[in-house]
Amino acid sequence: MIVKINPCLRSIIRKASTDLKNVLAAKIPIHQETVKNFRKKHGGEKLCDVIVNQAYGGMRGIVAMVCETSILDPEEGIRFRGHTIPDCQKKLPKASGGEEPLPEGLFWLLLTGDIPNDAQVKAISKEWASRAALAPHVMTLLKNLPSTVHPMSQLSAAVIAHNSESKFVKAYMSGVHKSKYWEYVYEDSMDLIAKLPVIAAIIYQNVYKSGKSVAPIDADKDWSLNFTRMLGYDNPKFTELMRLYLTIHCDHEGGNVSAHTVHLVGSALSDPYLSYAAGMNGLAGPLHGLANQEVLVWVMKMKQALGDSPNDDQIKDFIWKTLKSGQVIPGYGHAVLRKTDPRYVCQYEFAKKHLPDDPLFQVVSGLYKVVPPILTELGKVQNPWPNVDAHSGVLLQYYGLKEMNYYTVLFAVSRALGVLASLIWDRAMGLPIERPKSISTENLLKMFK
Ligand SMILES: CC(C)(COP(=O)(O)OP(=O)(O)OC[C@H]1O[C@@H](n2cnc3c(N)ncnc32)[C@H](O)[C@@H]1OP(=O)(O)O)[C@@H](O)C(=O)NCCC(=O)NCCS
Repeated sequence: MIVKINPCLRSIIRKASTDLKNVLAAKIPIHQETVKNFRKKHGGEKLCDVIVNQAYGGMRGIVAMVCETSILDPEEGIRFRGHTIPDCQKKLPKASGGEEPLPEGLFWLLLTGDIPNDAQVKAISKEWASRAALAPHVMTLLKNLPSTVHPMSQLSAAVIAHNSESKFVKAYMSGVHKSKYWEYVYEDSMDLIAKLPVIAAIIYQNVYKSGKSVAPIDADKDWSLNFTRMLGYDNPKFTELMRLYLTIHCDHEGGNVSAHTVHLVGSALSDPYLSYAAGMNGLAGPLHGLANQEVLVWVMKMKQALGDSPNDDQIKDFIWKTLKSGQVIPGYGHAVLRKTDPRYVCQYEFAKKHLPDDPLFQVVSGLYKVVPPILTELGKVQNPWPNVDAHSGVLLQYYGLKEMNYYTVLFAVSRALGVLASLIWDRAMGLPIERPKSISTENLLKMFK
C-alpha cells in the first residue's frame, strides 16, 4: 500500500510540530515505501566484492549494512544526515547566549533528517528532563558498587539493571505486533537518553566526590546544562564545551564497534537498555572510545618523563619508545578516516578560542607536527592523522574535569544519541536478526587449493 500524505500537511508536521514521535511516525511509512521499492528494483545488485584478507582483517571496507543516521567519508569525515560538523555548528539551535549546538537538535536531526527549530529542541529538553528519574534499584546498585569498578563498567551495569523498566519488553511480552516495535524502542530510547546524564553524574560523584548527591534536574534547562550541574560544574564555558562534546561524539556511521554492537544485539530484539550497554562495553575498549583516556595517560607519562616543555627531538624519542614497546600511539589513526578527524579540528578550534595559552593544549598541538611523520615512516599505518580522542582530554582537563578514567563515560552519554536513533530506525524498517556467514581456515585452504 502506498501511503500518501498531503505534502502541505507533511510540511506543516515537519516544520511546526514539537512532537518528535509524531513527526517520526509520519516519516516512517514514506521511508519504508522508498526502501521497499528500491529493494524490489535493485535488491539483487552487487555492493562490493569480499577478499580473503577482509575476512581475516576485521571486515574492513565491506559494505554490508545500512545506517540511516550518518555517513563517514574517508577524506571529509562525518556527515550527520548530510550535514558536516561546521554545518551543524551553524544550523542547529543554541542555548540562549550560547554558541555551540544543542545535542537535542542533533538527535532530532539524526532521527528525522530535518534541522529542528528552537521550539522543537526546547520540547526535547523538556521531555528528557521529565523522563530522567532512575528506578530505585539502580540508585541502590550504583551506591553499592565500589569505586574500584571502572566508571564504564558502572555505567554498563546500571543501564543493564534498568531494563527492568523496558517498555519494549513489556509490549513484546504482551504480544504487540512487530510493526509497532519501533514505538516502544523509541520510548525506551527517550527514557534511556534522559537517564544517562543522571547515571553518569551519580557515578562521577560516587567515584570521585565521596558520593555527594547530584543536583536536581531543572525542566527549563537543556540536557547538557543539567548534566554539568549534576557533575558539580557551574562554569558556563564548560557547559558550552559539553554541548559541543555531546554533539560531535554522537555518531560515526554504522560499522564502528559500539554502533555495530548496538545494531547487532538489537537485531535479536534485545531491548534498548541491553543493546546500548553491549555497545558501550565495546566503547570501553582502548582501541575505540577508551582511547580518549589513553591519550591523556600517555601525554602525562610523556610530561613526567620529559618535563613540561620538551623539544621535538625528545618527543620523537618518546614516540619511538612507545612504538618499539609494541603499543599504539593513542588518538592517532582510524579504520576508515584518511585525514585529520573533523571532530579533532572543531575541538582544536574551541581550544584556540577559549584556552590558547594552556600548556597542555600546546603539547597536544605540538604532537600534531611530530606524530604523523613517524607513523608514516612505520610504513603500515593507513592513517597517521589524529582522531577525535587526541583532543577531548585537553579541554576536559582545562575546565577541571581531570579524572581521566571517567572520560569514556562522557563519550558514552553522547554516543547514545546516534546508536539509539539508529536502533529506532532498525525496528521501523523491520530489519532482521543479523547473521553473517563465517568460514574456517580449513575451508578456506580447501577452497583455494
Ligand atoms: C583506530 C585503530 C584501531 C584503527 O586500526 P586499523 O584499522 O587496524 O588501522 P590500520 O589499518 O592503519 O593499521 C595497520 C597497522 O598500523 C598500526 N597502527 C594504526 N594506528 C596506529 C597508531 N596510532 N600507533 C601505532 N600503530 C598504529 C596497527 O596497529 C596495525 O599494525 P599491525 O599490522 O602490526 O597490527 C588504530 O589506528 C589505533 O590503534 N589507533 C590508536 C587508538 C585510537 O586512537 N583509537 C581511537 C579510534 S577513533
